[in-house]
Amino acid sequence: MAGTETVLLYNFENSPKLRGLKMIFLKMGIRMRMVTPDMYLQTIGALAHIKGYEWTDQVYEGDGFSDEMMVMSGFSNARLDELLRQMRKNKIPRIALKAIVTAHNASWNSLMLHGELGKEHAMMTGGASSSQNAMMDAVIYKGKGQFALEQRKIPSIVHPKDAIVKVTLASICTSDLHIKHGSVPKAVPGIVVGHEMVGQIVQLGSQVSGLAVGDRVAVNVETFCGECFFCQNGFVNNCTDANGGWALGCRIDGGQAEYVRVPFAQNGLTKIPDNVTDEQAIFTGDILSTGYWGAKISEIRKNDVVAVIGAGPTGICAMLCARLYEPSQIIAIDIDESRLALVREHGIAHVTINSSDSDPEQIIRQITDGRGADVVIEAAGGKDTFQTAWKIARPNAIVTVLALYEEDQILPLPHMYGKNLTFKTGGVDACDCSRILELISDGKLDTTCLITHRFPLKDAMKAYELFENKEDHVMKVVLKP
Ligand SMILES: NC(=O)c1ccc[n+]([C@@H]2O[C@H](COP(=O)([O-])OP(=O)(O)OC[C@H]3O[C@@H](n4cnc5c(N)ncnc54)[C@H](O)[C@@H]3O)[C@@H](O)[C@H]2O)c1
Ligand SMILES: [Zn+2]
Ligand SMILES: [Zn+2]
Repeated sequence: MAGTETVLLYNFENSPKLRGLKMIFLKMGIRMRMVTPDMYLQTIGALAHIKGYEWTDQVYEGDGFSDEMMVMSGFSNARLDELLRQMRKNKIPRIALKAIVTAHNASWNSLMLHGELGKEHAMMTGGASSSQNAMMDAVIYKGKGQFALEQRKIPSIVHPKDAIVKVTLASICTSDLHIKHGSVPKAVPGIVVGHEMVGQIVQLGSQVSGLAVGDRVAVNVETFCGECFFCQNGFVNNCTDANGGWALGCRIDGGQAEYVRVPFAQNGLTKIPDNVTDEQAIFTGDILSTGYWGAKISEIRKNDVVAVIGAGPTGICAMLCARLYEPSQIIAIDIDESRLALVREHGIAHVTINSSDSDPEQIIRQITDGRGADVVIEAAGGKDTFQTAWKIARPNAIVTVLALYEEDQILPLPHMYGKNLTFKTGGVDACDCSRILELISDGKLDTTCLITHRFPLKDAMKAYELFENKEDHVMKVVLKP
């Protein structure tokens, strides 16, 4: 009996089925170690790593159990029943199962426990390293003007409401460039950047419900507690928690990496429907949320004429979401002909206007019997685009400003007196991700045409160079860890 080799980690005192399994293990003389739900996943991950075992975070649904099976988590109940049956019949070689872990919920919130585990590791391995040393690739904000691909520790759960997500696809956002250029004062040098990603849950804190290890999820750009005044009113961008608002990849480590820790995981992660691919879901938490929110707050009515300034990723998401309200026309305005061409190619807008060689105000007046657009969404952030926005709006229109300007803007109230405009501005309240994924799943929203370039995470610096220099008509770049 390989008593020193075989360790059963368990935290299933409350389950009769699992207690049965424990008894069998005891009879087999397998060394047992009680771990709290807080530490079990971290523990098996670490053990697997140290002992060179194959380690999977997938729920096991395969046929039977073999000598090869070493470390596993997330057994489904059906597989567990089968395992029990086979073990009772003595069909499974006694030393085959080096470690079995069976619970689904875990978190790692105590450094003390980590220390204790470290001792266990030392005991098992004769002083070898622990999981604290497991490393990953990550894009780091080094300081103004500098990003670099570096090795970082794989994150672990620090709060019971956290989740650890294995990133399967990340993207680069214009806001990442704002960080690089030093124009995001809250950005903390040294952090892992990236706030638009999808992945798979590999660890869950003990206070996260409604999600399971193995779930494919879209990560929300915003972290929100769900409990403060603003969260209760849906204004999650202004969540008053210390990590509230845009924290990921700005104030705390983000997702241009192999793994990311997501605080308030229950609010910040949304399950991706099975028929939706990573590329279809990638923009859910950031630019698609922005487009969705922008269209929503613009109060678009059926048959409205909606003008969107900026045919960049954000503007295009706004156009795609504006369509959901059945406007009579969507007018896309940009100075970049290749972007307008993409809009035409995919039928995203009814009319495109290149404002570098024609006057949008004049054209829109022609289209609208001299009135102007019923709704204007400004998603360009150019030098003159705020002025264009209010000028092309008809009296009593709603003008929604999604753009983030690097300079102050002038609101020339005397000139617009009597036009009775309503301005709406701000950072997205990204709390409609479930609805967005449903629309994607139903084929009503498709942003895959925005992905013009794909790079492995290892080539992130090349990807940044291309994105920053707007080479090769780049729209969106995705990074695959
Ligand atoms: N409010 C939010 O929560 C939120 C979220 C995401 C992005 N944003 C902001 O939205 C804006 C757009 O983001 P993006 O990723 O699409 O950026 P982008 O730079 O890719 O797109 C901007 C588009 O505007 C066009 N443009 C620039 N100057 C123009 C001008 N003078 N006239 C007409 N078109 C002009 C550009 O050619 C480009 O196609 C940025 O300011 C970004 O910071 C805001
Ligand atoms: Zn962004
Ligand atoms: Zn809150």
